[in-house]
Amino acid sequence: MDYTVMMPAAGSGTRMGAGQNKLFLKLAGKTILGHTLTVFEEDPWCAGIILAVKDSERPVIEAIIRDSAITKVKALPAGGAERQDSVAACLEAHQEGGIVLVHDAARPFIARPVIHKLAESAAEHGAAVAGVKAKDTMKYVTDGQVEETADRERLWIIQTPQAFRYELLLDASRKARQEQFLGTDEATLAERAGLPVHVVGSTYDNIKMTTPEDLAYGGYLLKKRLEETME
Ligand code: C5P
Repeated sequence: MDYTVMMPAAGSGTRMGAGQNKLFLKLAGKTILGHTLTVFEEDPWCAGIILAVKDSERPVIEAIIRDSAITKVKALPAGGAERQDSVAACLEAHQEGGIVLVHDAARPFIARPVIHKLAESAAEHGAAVAGVKAKDTMKYVTDGQVEETADRERLWIIQTPQAFRYELLLDASRKARQEQFLGTDEATLAERAGLPVHVVGSTYDNIKMTTPEDLAYGGYLLKKRLEETME
């Protein structure tokens, strides 16, 4: 089944403290962006990649695309001030419909079986997100005081990819923009429109490279995968 992936890559990554876009940092000699792009380049179901970039970083990103031998990039729209604006720019640049996945460029460890389950689930139900069950106890805290303990059995940590029928996400994205609503993920926009969103079980190692500790863990994950492929 074909899908197109919308990849926001226009963030600044201040929490990484790298003084540059964290996607340009290297893991095992290759940029984080290069690793994430390669996952989709190598997936036969992926028909195209639309990447939102900062105009000032366009030359660097074009060089990464070339150096990583990525052939599936269809458009490089300019990203916006918020992640949601960058995703909206990708959606507006895509004209072909079908199933679209939104995936953070900062998550290089997404597994192909999860991607495929998401595409199938979105085709069947309209919207599907990757998630893992919460392992820790979660509480609502206000001013240092616990207000309430959440029911862990029903708590999921939601990741990307998030998959949708294109028209459904485009409508939800345009509506959010009109109403100046800012969500923390794409599924929130669909939920606001009253649409059901399915959850597909993902893996705990599909981390978003956010802080320097993630880089160290990412290096370990890559080494482990390399050893597994050589066994
Ligand atoms: O900052 P954070 O890690 O939450 O960003 C998630 C993804 O969204 C990253 O791949 C980042 O490059 C992208 N992003 C974007 N435009 C923004 C902010 C973040 O494309 N304005």
